[in-house]
Amino acid sequence: MTIYNLGSINADLFYSLPHLPLPGETLASTTFSRGLGGKGANMSVAAARAGARCAHIGAVGPDGAWAVERLTEYGVDTRPVVTLPEATGHALILVDAAGENSIVLYPGANRALSETHIADVLAQATAADTFLTQNETNLQREAAEIAASKGMRVVYAAAPFDADAVQAVLPLLNMLVLNEVEAQQLEQATGLSPDKLPVADVVMTLGAKGCRWFHDGQAQDFAALKVTPVDTTGAGDTFTGYLLAGLDRGMPMAQAIALAQKAGALMVTRHGTADVIPDLKDVQDAFRT
Ligand code: RIB
Repeated sequence: MTIYNLGSINADLFYSLPHLPLPGETLASTTFSRGLGGKGANMSVAAARAGARCAHIGAVGPDGAWAVERLTEYGVDTRPVVTLPEATGHALILVDAAGENSIVLYPGANRALSETHIADVLAQATAADTFLTQNETNLQREAAEIAASKGMRVVYAAAPFDADAVQAVLPLLNMLVLNEVEAQQLEQATGLSPDKLPVADVVMTLGAKGCRWFHDGQAQDFAALKVTPVDTTGAGDTFTGYLLAGLDRGMPMAQAIALAQKAGALMVTRHGTADVIPDLKDVQDAFRT
């Protein structure tokens, strides 16, 4: 089976800082590095590194061949990535001494995809496949409609959070993945707590407190693994990619969540995003008991 991921591809520009800048403050960074990222690309790489077949539906600009090459090297099917006239998306990622971040996005080509292209790619998909998207491209609702009409498992990771964007796809979803703050924001917008949302499976990550899965109004908690974070960027994306790869392989939800938690926990001990997402062997070795 295949995970079709409509998602962003960014150049991630990382700056390490003693603290995140205050309004009007100028700060010198202690390190700088550049890598492959984008919530979409990170999820595709995570799914591929977890052993799934993942086809990435996305776009880069004329300056983005390096990003497509890298995604391919990491095991992602990049045939559905198009090159458009707009510049490749990029992200300025400021990371403080505790590993927390602030991100500024330039969407560029990520938001210039055409519905025809997405429909052409999804024409190959079947009801056995998964459709995943997040909020860094255009046409999320249109793509989710096509996927739902084919009977695919439709999954939305509600990041970066936008209440209108989530509500546009909510009726089409089989699964929603979001963090605690995003769940609170969604509750403010809809009046619905996660257990009351009209989605069969809601997976809410809780950072250092673990994770909660809502199914049929029932909640199940998963304790966090103890690690010392150096950079939380991309950990949620890694969690989601591993979760879907596990489900795609036929794992029960609880087992897929446990695997995804391990991958996310290992990811926060690494600096960077797509380039450092751990593979399945790394994840299993890190938490072997
Ligand atoms: O979730 C982390 C990602 O957010 C980064 O890779 C950056 O590109 C932004 O999309």
